[in-house]
Amino acid sequence: MSRKVLILNGPNLNMLGTREVEIYGKETLADIDKSCREYGRDLGLEIDFRQSNAEAELVTWIQQARGTVEAIILNAGAYTHTSIAILDALKMVEVPVVEVHLSNIFQREPFRAESYVSRAAKGIIAGFGAHGYRLALDAISQLIGAGTKK
Ligand code: DQA
Repeated sequence: MSRKVLILNGPNLNMLGTREVEIYGKETLADIDKSCREYGRDLGLEIDFRQSNAEAELVTWIQQARGTVEAIILNAGAYTHTSIAILDALKMVEVPVVEVHLSNIFQREPFRAESYVSRAAKGIIAGFGAHGYRLALDAISQLIGAGTKK
């Protein structure tokens, strides 16, 4: 039976593919969604992939994940660096969280090196572009002991 993983994307990630492509790459969020579903299927993981520009909506989705999903992958976008509300929700949810960033946030402006999300995350994957989401799925598969990749 497939095990559910929630993949959440924060503000401006709906603009991937046209947004600062030299930093974030040419793949759209729809491309990443598709590749996560396919990769997840091979790992025995059912993917619920969402994006919101609104902090409140992200908080609500994290709250609802409690008891309904096995893990969360989160690219909180700019809220990574600002949102105590998202951190508090993550602390409450009691499922493993893997933090993902397309870019290497430690190589960029100093304010991006600070992540509230990291305080609640099992680990962080940053700098591998869209491939980072698949790396996060591998990490989750190991963490929750899901099926082996075909
Ligand atoms: C990002 C990095 C953040 O600093 C930025 O605000 C984003 C995207 C990334 O995936 O590299 O929106 O999370």
